[in-house]
Amino acid sequence: MTTICLIPGDGVGREVIPAATEVLTALGTLRDLRFVHAEAGWDCFQKRGNALPAETLEAVARADATLFGAVSSPSGRVAGYRSPILQLRQSFDLYANLRPTLSLPGGFSRPQVDLLIVRENTEDLYVGRERREGADTAIAERVITRRASERIARLAFAQARLRADPRVTIVHKANVLKETDGLFRETCLAVAAEFPDIACDEMLVDAMAMRLVKDPEHFDVIVTTNLFGDILSDEAAGLIGGLGVAPSANLGERVAVFEPVHGSAPDIAGKGLANPIGAILSAAMLLDFLREPAAAESVRRAVYAVVRSGLLTPDLGGNATTRRFTDAVVRELAS
Ligand code: NAI
Ligand code: MG
Repeated sequence: MTTICLIPGDGVGREVIPAATEVLTALGTLRDLRFVHAEAGWDCFQKRGNALPAETLEAVARADATLFGAVSSPSGRVAGYRSPILQLRQSFDLYANLRPTLSLPGGFSRPQVDLLIVRENTEDLYVGRERREGADTAIAERVITRRASERIARLAFAQARLRADPRVTIVHKANVLKETDGLFRETCLAVAAEFPDIACDEMLVDAMAMRLVKDPEHFDVIVTTNLFGDILSDEAAGLIGGLGVAPSANLGERVAVFEPVHGSAPDIAGKGLANPIGAILSAAMLLDFLREPAAAESVRRAVYAVVRSGLLTPDLGGNATTRRFTDAVVRELAS
């Protein structure tokens, strides 16, 4: 028995997680899957005064893997509210964020892109050490440690080893951020020396942002710090159709949380128009993690077949609903 914790969250999370769950359920040949449902997010906070209740944390800790939708977070400060996805990453030390970008078979996607962004997920500017000094100055502290840089670099090289013709590009801004990115760069290069069989180079993040637009097919594995990884991975998603199609994994030593890269998309929530591809491909990553590579591959093949047929949600230029797209994927799996 394999237990998967489902946390739809807010907005379109409640549309795309049920879609991905239907796809998992349609994999009839798979070993027994048990789904448990848990709450988190803004609505949960409004209702219960807590965006990530203790029983949700327990459900995640007990499950073999978690599929998370998206949550709404206010841009300003709200007393007592902390983003549940950031809390999950911190509570379970989900130190690695894997964000693959693979071309989709449609005119909306650049061809021949197959890259993996490995983003450090616990520190950098996201440690939340921000403060106001007086009325007109705000300061944020950036934290980079050797330990976190070393484990993310090791994971990036281990992931690279699973790929055909691997190459790791270390992305940083050590020419300006000499201490923080200097430490990240130096640590990654030391780990690279332990993997002499894997090609490795480095690039400054601004140059990388440009190269990713100009020749994305040039890159394989990119390892970088938290904020740069956040930005570059959204940029990479833009190459293949946008946020609606991008999957991700948050990995720690004991817990794994899979989630589409997009947020709660309040502009389209509740209309049945959300693209479920990001969530379904996140479910495929979850299957890979559960050592079900054949099932993961059949999910991906089913998604590609439906995309190739031209059945697309509005964000990709079509007029299919979440329902129609999901039904087509399920039918494709059965064929
Ligand atoms: P967003 O990702 O929700 O939306 C950005 C744009 O992409 C919107 O035009 C939206 O309609 C579109 N989009 C997103 N997902 C889509 C899908 N599945 N299908 C079709 N179109 C899709 O980002 P935004 O607007 O910056 O943030 C909205 C809310 O989501 C905020 O409260 C933010 O804090 C939260 N958020 C949560 C994340 C998470 O839970 N991991 C990540 C990013 C944002
Ligand atoms: Mg982001």
